[in-house]
Amino acid sequence: MKVLVVGSGGREHTICWKLNQSPKVDKIYCAPGNGGIGQIAELVSIGAMEFDKLADFVKENNIDFTVVGMDDPLVGGIVDKFEAEGLKIFGPKANAAIIEGSKAFSKELMKKYNIPTAAYETFDNYENALEYIKKGDFPVVLKADGLALGKGVLICNSLEEAEEGLKTIMVDKKFGESGNKVVIEEFLTGQEMSVLSFCDGKTIVPMVSAQDHKRALDGDKGLNTGGMGTFSPSRVYTKELAEECMETIYKPTVEALNKEGRTFKGIIFFGLMLTPKGMKVIEYNARFGDPETQVVLPRLKTDLMEIFEACVDGTLDKVNVEWYDNGAACVVLASGGYPESYKKGYEITGLDAAEKMDNIIVFHAGTALKDGKFVTNGGRVLGITGIGKDLDDAIKIAYEGVKAVDFKDKHFRTDIGIK
Ligand code: AMP
Ligand code: GLY
Repeated sequence: MKVLVVGSGGREHTICWKLNQSPKVDKIYCAPGNGGIGQIAELVSIGAMEFDKLADFVKENNIDFTVVGMDDPLVGGIVDKFEAEGLKIFGPKANAAIIEGSKAFSKELMKKYNIPTAAYETFDNYENALEYIKKGDFPVVLKADGLALGKGVLICNSLEEAEEGLKTIMVDKKFGESGNKVVIEEFLTGQEMSVLSFCDGKTIVPMVSAQDHKRALDGDKGLNTGGMGTFSPSRVYTKELAEECMETIYKPTVEALNKEGRTFKGIIFFGLMLTPKGMKVIEYNARFGDPETQVVLPRLKTDLMEIFEACVDGTLDKVNVEWYDNGAACVVLASGGYPESYKKGYEITGLDAAEKMDNIIVFHAGTALKDGKFVTNGGRVLGITGIGKDLDDAIKIAYEGVKAVDFKDKHFRTDIGIK
């Protein structure tokens, strides 16, 4: 088979890396991809939102199957477009991807179907929202309704902070149209974890759990980022919790979406928190996580292509999805200054040495190939994944890999997985 992967980050590199191991896959294309992905896939310089061009490319090159890594094209309807043209594609249609595209929608869905989540109210009017926070408790959580690169969530510790946050979202429109509506939520406490799952519209198969470190600096300090590192499995997600979540969260979500006429095929990503009152959903995403994928897919034993096809065909119940009983940790190497301003174009050294190390996988996020050398080309540059017999072993191995790779202003957290 010929497969096209849409996206350009570490997540897409991981998907390409796993598909490259499939006996079913002969050739991989990636649009637009990055320097590292170019080592295993043919890069196609078409943007992820250029649906017409992507569909034409697929037809011209007789590509059998497309996989979408990113949220924007899914929410924007790439799957609807491809299916209307008779092209096979993995991912939810726009009417189901809305579980990520609109936080107001996903909260309403959870409330209607009794799926545990934080108490909330939604407002599309600034004055009414302001009235509401003046009467509430603190901390309070403000969420811009739409997509905001994971940055549209503000945790406000006082009325002043909340007033300012509300203004940022609804008046200054820092997150653009995503701030036309705001979800105001009860602040929850507890350990967070990510559970990604395969879904064919009827059957849902959760993957092994993972945990993300979102803050830029050690000790969960500094600004929120797209993710500075991940590990799998989570230290708190037990078999009992997994069974509970299946009955109270995973299956009810699939059923709720079906009842609403929004059948979901693709990846449902559950952002969960173990609160004193049990497991609650913090958010849904409609795609693989980045960098969760970098620790989850290396632990998958089963052929990923077989699973993707089964999700599209509605035959996931026929696939025995198996995992390795090991651990994985991914340390993100970022450009100094990320998530704010940073420079690009610095040469990266030591990649060959790291790639040759046992149980190390180097996933590229923001890299480019320039005159035969890899250079930094983004905020998150690389994800160094270590695979170990257990989590602690994996963490040690990942940091050995981190030592091997260097570039100017390299920044990483030294406490990934240590919680
Ligand atoms: P989200 O984009 O919805 O995942 O939110 C980003 C981060 O904000 C989450 O990973 C949590 O750490 C935090 N967060 C979101 N909602 C809440 C909440 N209701 N209570 C406490 N923290 C939250
Ligand atoms: N790492 C969090 C996300 O992909 O949304």
